[in-house]
Amino acid sequence: MDRLEKALEKSRQLRTTMAPRPTPNSGASAAGGSAPTFVSSAFDSALVNDAQMEQNRIVAHRTRSAEADVYRQLRTHVLQIMNKSGFKTLAITSPRYGDGKTTVALNLGISIALDLKQTVLLVDLDLRKPDLHQYLGVKPQAGLTDYLLHDTPLHECLMRPPFERVNILPSGSRLDNSSEILGSPKMIALSSELKSRYPDRLVIYDMPPILAQDDPIAFLPQVDAVLVVVRDGVTRAEDLKRSLATLAGANVIGTVLNDCW
Ligand SMILES: Nc1ncnc2c1ncn2[C@@H]1O[C@H](COP(=O)(O)OP(=O)(O)OP(=O)(O)O)[C@@H](O)[C@H]1O
Ligand SMILES: [Mg+2]
Repeated sequence: MDRLEKALEKSRQLRTTMAPRPTPNSGASAAGGSAPTFVSSAFDSALVNDAQMEQNRIVAHRTRSAEADVYRQLRTHVLQIMNKSGFKTLAITSPRYGDGKTTVALNLGISIALDLKQTVLLVDLDLRKPDLHQYLGVKPQAGLTDYLLHDTPLHECLMRPPFERVNILPSGSRLDNSSEILGSPKMIALSSELKSRYPDRLVIYDMPPILAQDDPIAFLPQVDAVLVVVRDGVTRAEDLKRSLATLAGANVIGTVLNDCW
């Protein structure tokens, strides 16, 4: 069993043995009723409920929903391209802050995992502004930067949201020199391991914006494909052109027009 597999297995075992408990500010009181449980590997469990996910626009798991259908369409397009080309890793970026990268990354990841044949690992690579976990209302005790800088075991960094076949590697403690860290040998080794180990697993990296930080450029050589999010009525044509020019050496498989309803 390799290191990552061991970490996931340990995380799974620990989840089944630890009783989840609600934490303050988990949002559990917002909707009440049947809240799916979320247990982070650090055992700081929280309750994530439908109202909270709705507020954060996490909708892909809904069965009858126009928004979820849009993510299913996106999933189909993405999987067709990824499978045809044998791609295993997908970076999601955009020209600027707030275009919808994290929203798209989470919804796409959940939608892909609903496909049954796929498992998904979502990795928060926005190390300067980590927030992917906040969309699920949890506060992880460790994440990628703790693994990279402090040798925190990987199993203590992984989390599993209340969606089958989805795991999350949160970014961990906020970092300012993140492009150096993302280009470090330990990060390159990890990304290579994440990519190659399981044939049915897709790794989705939630990246920083391409025009605001150099992190994506430092890390993009490690990914197979890139999806660019643009926000309707917000993203300027010039910014999109500059972003695509910056991504010239990467394998851009498409753009997602977000917030166009
Ligand atoms: N389609 C949409 N309709 C309405 N609001 C949206 C939509 N997509 C995202 N948002 C909201 O816009 C805000 C920014 O979205 P998100 O965090 O996904 O963007 P981001 O590109 O990841 O931002 P950052 O660059 O800061 O990481 C969030 O409040 C999110 O809920
Ligand atoms: Mg984001």
